[in-house]
Amino acid sequence: MTDQEVAETTEVPVAIVGAGPSGLMLAHLLARAGVDAVAVESRTRAEIESTHRAGILEADNARALVETGVSDRILRDGHEHEGIELRFDGRGHRIDFAELVGASAWLYPQTDVFTDLADARARDGGVVHYGVRDTEVLDVEGDAPRVRFTDSSGIRHELRARYVIGADGSRSTCRALVPQDRSTQFFKEYPFAWFGILTHAPVSAPELVYAQSEHGFALISQRTDAVQRMYFQCDPDEDVDAWDDARIWETLQQRVAGRDGFSLREGPVFEKTVLRFRSFVQQPMRWGSLVLAGDAAHTVPPTGAKGLNLALHDVQILADVLARTVHSGDDAVLDEFEPRALQRVWRAQNFSYWMTQLLHTTPGSTAFDHRRQVGELDNVVGTRAGRTYLAEQYTGWPTRDT
Ligand code: PHB
Repeated sequence: MTDQEVAETTEVPVAIVGAGPSGLMLAHLLARAGVDAVAVESRTRAEIESTHRAGILEADNARALVETGVSDRILRDGHEHEGIELRFDGRGHRIDFAELVGASAWLYPQTDVFTDLADARARDGGVVHYGVRDTEVLDVEGDAPRVRFTDSSGIRHELRARYVIGADGSRSTCRALVPQDRSTQFFKEYPFAWFGILTHAPVSAPELVYAQSEHGFALISQRTDAVQRMYFQCDPDEDVDAWDDARIWETLQQRVAGRDGFSLREGPVFEKTVLRFRSFVQQPMRWGSLVLAGDAAHTVPPTGAKGLNLALHDVQILADVLARTVHSGDDAVLDEFEPRALQRVWRAQNFSYWMTQLLHTTPGSTAFDHRRQVGELDNVVGTRAGRTYLAEQYTGWPTRDT
């Protein structure tokens, strides 16, 4: 990759490739367990902080951030939601998480989670190299893997580790280190995407609104009293420049309209992105001294808001298992990670897929397909079992199950 000579060598038990929320949370939890880790990240802090991502944390994850001392800002700036609304057939139907399962979800954007974690690492003296290039991960099949990279001031480093964690997101390069003939990639592509906007507008509804309509899906989310996040189903190849504010608002209003007269409060749109989505899992998550965590190993469509939550669960399990592995020197302990992580991964894959097919319009679908979908939604909102199922999955499975 580069002929530049290594100028700095560091011995560290754990090297983490990727300093997004998974990599940073893992480093934070390992530090609390007395295990040193160094994280490297190709993007700068500012680049990560300007990428808009989803905004929902399961209550268990919100609690983990607060209780492990990352930050209590979520308690001040986050919003606890005790339910969501499903809209279809021109009406809203509330799913009352608090009453059904005694749980809630927190609206707190992923960028804020990242900022809190990056600040906590800096506060605690954790080593994180942002803006690195030419990262190479070597010798993962043995017990002395290395990570080489050039830092933002041009110095070539080598980390000599016992374990390397690939927490390098959905475009992971670490996952390609598992030989192709020994790994399986499970995929599902969807024939639609989300058009995401940020707008300077007042809040339109007290909780998130997931709307199914014959024109397609829409999601009404929030950021602050004055900034709102909304999405609508679009073609995966949609060109954001073809959408001016008037067209965006007309589309969103049409998808939430109904006989109850509900409508959105409009404002100028200042961010537009198309989010393509797919379901993906690569197994195994461990190969020799390499372990994959978060989006590097699995991605879900955003409908169930599980991506960040799954990543945070992976690293909580991994920190526990890895700390015991490093402290005991018994490599076999690390084998506990994958089965514990995968159970939740596949549950979340199912839930994300289910929420997606429940609410989106598949191109080419018939009047029958639309009426059947309304029938399924009626079964969900019209029975306590249906509402409880949705509430339980959305707010997350108890940690003790994994
Ligand atoms: C968001 O606020 O960005 C958001 C909320 C819920 C989702 C996905 C995204 O399911």
